[in-house]
Amino acid sequence: MKPIEILEDFFFIERGYLNANHFVYRSDKPVLIDTAYITDFAETRACIESLGVKLSDIDSIINTHSHSDHIGGNKFIQDESGCGIVIHRIGKYFIDTHDDWATWWRYYGHQAEFFNVTQALEDGDTIVIGPHEFRVIYTPGHASDGIVLYNQNEKILISSDTLWENDMPGMTLRVEGSTALFRFEESLEKIKALDVRMIYPGHGRPFKTAHEAIARSQKKIQNYLTNRELIGLDLLKRITIYTLIIRFCFLLYSIHWRNKYRRNKLSSLCYEKRRIPSRLIGGLNNV
Ligand SMILES: [Fe+2]
Repeated sequence: MKPIEILEDFFFIERGYLNANHFVYRSDKPVLIDTAYITDFAETRACIESLGVKLSDIDSIINTHSHSDHIGGNKFIQDESGCGIVIHRIGKYFIDTHDDWATWWRYYGHQAEFFNVTQALEDGDTIVIGPHEFRVIYTPGHASDGIVLYNQNEKILISSDTLWENDMPGMTLRVEGSTALFRFEESLEKIKALDVRMIYPGHGRPFKTAHEAIARSQKKIQNYLTNRELIGLDLLKRITIYTLIIRFCFLLYSIHWRNKYRRNKLSSLCYEKRRIPSRLIGGLNNV
């Protein structure tokens, strides 16, 4: 999707279903917020470079939490640029201790790479990105190290996976513990107290209806608390969809590259070129 300039030189990039959205501050010291899923790094690079920002010039990455679809490009970009990486102090602890359980990677069988966290964030910290200031608000529940970023001047909220427009993110109580739903409720109350004009979520399009989205999530939490089996059923549904998409896309990519290799080999022997269904593959990757 085409980047949207939401503040001066500060862009929002919406990604597909499995990858977290990005934010890019374009300057001589570019800053990224979240780097998507590791296997889609080529697309991540293309998204960022479409703004004229070279990955080798990145000054720092801020992660809203340590789930695989938010940190996948960290290692590659840090290797290429030597950039700093900033995350909540609990996320720093997970990454420093190579904890692939608390970060969900092992639980979901996701791919991810550890990286070097250079700075830890606390609730109430201020992050300065060029002329823009964001307050760090710690919002555990979906992730133990979850944060959102609030720009008071423009009343903009980068809500990550704490608030989506039409759905509530998955709750993995097996990892987060039985009290995660209560922590999520408290996090939603924190957001409710903010004066917000526009929300840029970790997944999906921007939206304005903060109170409706909060009410929807609060209702879902109450449903979960009343009918605990719903948590497991919902999780099962998500795992099935994620797995099918990840595995199916991987299979299509494998076929694509195998065909490309064969085609190049045949072409070098003066055989007729065959067509590759790259449009189909590209389309599915953006589901
Ligand atoms: Fe997440």
